[in-house]
Amino acid sequence: MHTSKISGLGFYVPENIVTNDDLSKVMDTNDAWIQERTGIQERRHIKKGDGNSTSIMGVKAATIALERAELKPKDIDMIVFATLSPEMYFPGGGVQVQEMMGMRTIPALDVRNQCSGFVYAMSVADQFIKTGMYKHVLVIGAENHSGGLDFSTRGRSVSVIFGDGAGAAVVSRNENNEGGILSTHLHSEGKHKDELALQGPSTGYWVPEIIADNPQENIPYYPTMNGQFVFKHAIVRFSEVIKEGLDANGLKVEDIDMFIPHQANLRISQFIQKKLKLSDDQVYNNIQSYGNTTAASIPIALTEAWEKGKIKKGDLVVLAAFGSGFTWGSVIIRW
Ligand code: ACO
Repeated sequence: MHTSKISGLGFYVPENIVTNDDLSKVMDTNDAWIQERTGIQERRHIKKGDGNSTSIMGVKAATIALERAELKPKDIDMIVFATLSPEMYFPGGGVQVQEMMGMRTIPALDVRNQCSGFVYAMSVADQFIKTGMYKHVLVIGAENHSGGLDFSTRGRSVSVIFGDGAGAAVVSRNENNEGGILSTHLHSEGKHKDELALQGPSTGYWVPEIIADNPQENIPYYPTMNGQFVFKHAIVRFSEVIKEGLDANGLKVEDIDMFIPHQANLRISQFIQKKLKLSDDQVYNNIQSYGNTTAASIPIALTEAWEKGKIKKGDLVVLAAFGSGFTWGSVIIRW
């Protein structure tokens, strides 16, 4: 049996920078509140007419990842596409990537696990490679949040947090079985599904009925979040699933060379860092520049950390995420 490894990484964010001050011009918020609560200074938003969409950003990130893996689109055996903000209700983003990149008629699977989407997608890729079925799986996390957020004061506690962007990883057969993905660990707890959710449009919140039954201002087409509840659960589950991954491989927190948390909120990342007693050099955060890009946040941060030379061959790299569902998970990698 072969293990899997990451053979290429890439990310893309739209050019349009939206600062906290920009947001304070359209809603009642301010830079101090946002920075103190979330650490975010600015984020990127797609601009109408800039040619971007969720899957187009995914293609841009994937193109870089493929080049770095020294592979062509025809070499990819499967696409796993993670997003909570696809440009179409169906079909998903995976088939759009398959078409835009001119790939063979390979399987294209969409993963809907919100902030944990990339970790879930990596686990799927890892399984298909370990069984020997595929050699190269393209994993993408991409989000266009700005197209679906409430930028009035009513939506401010959610809309200031999220940004747009995409990250991609090529997961390949690890021919010599040295290092690579050591293990993946996934969880969910659906009883908390309403704590961070977007109800419609969906079959449960069907457009004509909703419009007939509700005054315009109550249409539930914007995400809602019980922020403090999410915070409390996130810090517990992040720590648990990191330790679960380390234990499974006989490793300790001290062995971690680089921890890439899902960029939910800088305070969550700092809380986990403190709880696990990790130094600043052992953790990479970039939510300050990009906001929370849900399924895209880990591949964006991982790629940026790697580009800056913060990840070297032989390093123990831990990815972990927590998000809506609730869902959470970790990926333990020997680089
Ligand atoms: N600007 C200014 N004021 C605001 C804003 C804003 N953008 N948003 C909310 N407020 C106000 C509220 O209206 C409230 O005012 P009031 O006291 O007059 O009623 C006050 O600020 C406090 O609101 P809270 O919601 O209690 O603020 P809290 O301190 O909990 O911070 C936050 C909110 C940042 C969301 C926090 O709960 C948090 O960090 N939660 C973690 C959840 C998270 O990070 N989610 C990210 C996405 S999920 C994921 O990726 C896992």
